[in-house]
Parts: sequence; structure tokens; C-alpha cells
Amino acid sequence: MKIRVPATSANLGPGFDSCGIALSQYLTIEIGEETKNWQIVHHLGSNIPSDEKNLLIQTALDLAPNLKPHRLTMTSDIPIARGLGSSSSVIVAGIELANRLGKLGMTTAQKVTYATKIEGHPDNVAPAICGDFVVASFNNNEVDFVKHPFPNCDVIAFIPNHELLTAESRAVLPKEMSYRDAVKASSIGNVMIAAVLNGNLPLAGKMMEKDILHENHRQHLVPHLKKIREFCKIYGGYGSFLSGAGPTVLVLTPSENTEKLVTALKIYDHEAAIDVLSVEKEGVQIV
Ligand code: HSE
Repeated sequence: MKIRVPATSANLGPGFDSCGIALSQYLTIEIGEETKNWQIVHHLGSNIPSDEKNLLIQTALDLAPNLKPHRLTMTSDIPIARGLGSSSSVIVAGIELANRLGKLGMTTAQKVTYATKIEGHPDNVAPAICGDFVVASFNNNEVDFVKHPFPNCDVIAFIPNHELLTAESRAVLPKEMSYRDAVKASSIGNVMIAAVLNGNLPLAGKMMEKDILHENHRQHLVPHLKKIREFCKIYGGYGSFLSGAGPTVLVLTPSENTEKLVTALKIYDHEAAIDVLSVEKEGVQIV
């Protein structure tokens, strides 16, 4: 049995801590035989534990403490600490591991709520569980969420060759904002979501670039965002935004403009990885 969880991109600009999409990169956990102690075979680097200290096992055991140890193989093409939901994918896989091995029979809503409580916000874990485009709200320990198909487009991921920890990128955010700005921020996010639901990517992309909740405060940590936004305009993308807490930037584009954008981004930064992805329709799956 294999558990497969997609990468995710949170925020989509003004949907801070609320909106996210699933993407076509994956974490896969292959469940092998029962063993004396938990073993995780992986090639993800020496910083990632290969035993029960791994976030995957910790999450699974928190949920189902009596699970019998197994040998697991973990593979992932989701880059770590780049804003593409790598840790959320592990949390979601850990929940699914406990759900399957422990026969917990969890509903999607239970998984989303449990994962959100671990992560603190639902915008990565909800699309990792549900797939596609998810709008969610976490209030008073309750998560309300809606999944909706995302309009067809290419998703170009500009992935810088350095990490940015979410904690560092959240530490630069203000503690408060004015009532007037909160109303403005809400209206921008509302139109972005309505445009996505309407299939109107030119308008959605325009609104994605108008965020006033986080991107401006994070600008100095992600100086490439401004330049990529210029390329997006010049070469016909719908819009660009910081993926989660960064440093990755996503550009949504009609496929006929993908090649021009990729070429410009590669010339701009030889060290960054430029991946052409799509929105993944399925969330966590047993394959
Ligand atoms: N909404 C979160 C943020 C996503 O932007 O900080 C990253 O975990």
C-alpha cells in the first residue's frame, strides 16, 4: 500500500491563511512489513530522521498511539522549506498512515481539522487532503472549508536555491492592521475567490497581485517577487504570488505563454529551479 500526498501552495496572494491549491509534485509513503521499531528508508538527507522521531511517525502515533511499527519508504519531489507544503504533506501522510493502519475510519473533515490544529492554519493541509482549490477558515477550534475546481492553466514554480523557514517569514508580519485596511484586504480576497469560481483567471490573477496582508511585509525576504511579477506582465501570465511563506513564487499562465516565461525566469536566475506544474485535482490518496 502507498500513500500519496500532493504539494500545495497557500495564500494565492490575498487568501492569507485561508486559500490553497494542490500541485503536481508528491510525497509518497510505501508501507512495508511490520518491524520491531519504526524504520523510514529515504534519500532526503541526514537532517530527516529515519526512525520514530520523523514527523510522519510522530503525527501517526499522536493520533493512534498503539500502531505497530512498520518499515516505510518515503520518497518526495516536494522541495523542503520552499513554501510548497513539504511539512504539511508529511503531516497529512502521518494522519492517513494512522487512519489506515489503525482502521480509524476518519472523514475528510476530521482529517482537515486534525491537520489544521497541528499546522496552525488550514491553507496547505486542506488542499493536501482534498486536492484542487480549497478555501478554509479556522476559528474557535473549528475548520470550515470548501473545495472547488480551479480553472485550467499552467503553474510555473520559481523555486530559489535557498530555504526560507515559515517561522522566519511569519515573524516579519505585523500584529495588527487598521479596520480600513482589513475591509480593503477582505474585498480583494473576496473578488479573487469569486473570479476563480467564475473561471475568470485574468481577474483572479490581477487580484492575487493586490494582497495587502503579507506579501508587502515579506518583500525584503523575497526580492525576486517584484522582478517575476514584471516578467508575468510582459509575457502574458495571469498573475503571480508568493507561494505560502516563500521563497517560491508561482506564476499562473495560459499554456501558450509558458515557454516565454520559463525562458525569461531561467535567464534571470540560473540557480533557481523552474518547474512547470499543474493543479492536482486529487488530495491524499491510497495508490
Ligand atoms: N499562510 C501561511 C503563511 C502558509 O503564509 O505564513 C505557510 O505555512
